[in-house]
Amino acid sequence: MKFFLDSADINEIRQMADLGICDGVTTNPTLVAKSGQDFKSLLNEIVRLIPGPISAEVVGLTAPEMLSEAEVLAKIHENIVIKLPLTPEGLKACKALSARNIKTNVTLCFQAGQALLAAKCGATYISPFIGRLDDVSQDGMQLIREIRAIYDNYGYDTQILAASIRHPQHVIQSALAGSDVATCPMKVLMSLYQHPLTDKGLTSFMEDWKKANQKPIV
Ligand code: G3P
Repeated sequence: MKFFLDSADINEIRQMADLGICDGVTTNPTLVAKSGQDFKSLLNEIVRLIPGPISAEVVGLTAPEMLSEAEVLAKIHENIVIKLPLTPEGLKACKALSARNIKTNVTLCFQAGQALLAAKCGATYISPFIGRLDDVSQDGMQLIREIRAIYDNYGYDTQILAASIRHPQHVIQSALAGSDVATCPMKVLMSLYQHPLTDKGLTSFMEDWKKANQKPIV
């Protein structure tokens, strides 16, 4: 499974780059607004920190507007993936961009029919928002399972990018359901490392080692 960081915070991105588990980054207009940084200069910084797919979302609402923005964003770096909303205009733009081998991430997916359309339009990634479904008492994980089954039935190459992830169980369940990617806030990625018994075990190892008065390992 690939792990993407869902963030536009350059300090978080720098920290994740250092840990070596981050395969890419997804941004969205809300995250970019929160960063307070100029969008294009932010993307220029991110592509230098993470050598993987960097999703940059267009804000135009018609296909021509999206395509002209995509033109600008794609020029920044070959790792830029154009993020498009799951609307008729967004999928028109997706089809045009995939015909030109420009990678796309179709976002704001909440039901399997949308994911089927995105695959038919050649989307590189589909972003089902599992957390926002759970937030309204629907089953986000069921959507991942349905998309996986449909894509496998027809051999679609579109990669499932589980998004809107709220906690480590979303990551684990998405992996079990066969999602190709999970894009997570930093706190969720960091929580994947944690278990109290790991901390407890390491503490007792260190205490026992100290008691044994062993020579330093040099
Ligand atoms: O960036 C796409 C998605 O992961 C955002 O999810 O629900 O946390 O805003 P959310």
